[in-house]
Amino acid sequence: MPMVPSRSPKAHNAGSPDPAARSTRIDSALYVMHAMTDLTSHLTYVCDSRDLPSESAKAVVVDARELVAWRDSAGDAHVWDDRCPHQGSDLASGGVEGCVLVCPSHGWRFDINGQFVVPLRVFSESRRPPVFARTYETVEQDGRVFARLTD
Ligand code: FES
Repeated sequence: MPMVPSRSPKAHNAGSPDPAARSTRIDSALYVMHAMTDLTSHLTYVCDSRDLPSESAKAVVVDARELVAWRDSAGDAHVWDDRCPHQGSDLASGGVEGCVLVCPSHGWRFDINGQFVVPLRVFSESRRPPVFARTYETVEQDGRVFARLTD
């Protein structure tokens, strides 16, 4: 009668060169699963992707928050507070130029990170004022745009 290989945990681990490495891989997999769960939780639906053509901005109210959803020329969607950090104008009434959102009131421009950007002839890169629009982590999935609306 032929011998059947044992499937005990000890025998299964015998093929692993380093049990500690296996444990680390399992820990890493659990960490990734946890991170994915965290990523998909606390996301709030903002709008449908089809309502956000390239280089457009749209005002959206979610849970009494006034937001601007906009899409840059690279195709990425962004969700920010619809309030310019300069004097509070609604950014959704502005325009999108490439990967920059432009405030309609005084023309301040904000890059995809929400940072105020100005022509280098006005400020050198190192002296750029640290002014930011309020941005939210944005995820686009299955034809819908979501944001993690933190306080
Ligand atoms: S209020 Fe936006 S640039 Fe002045």
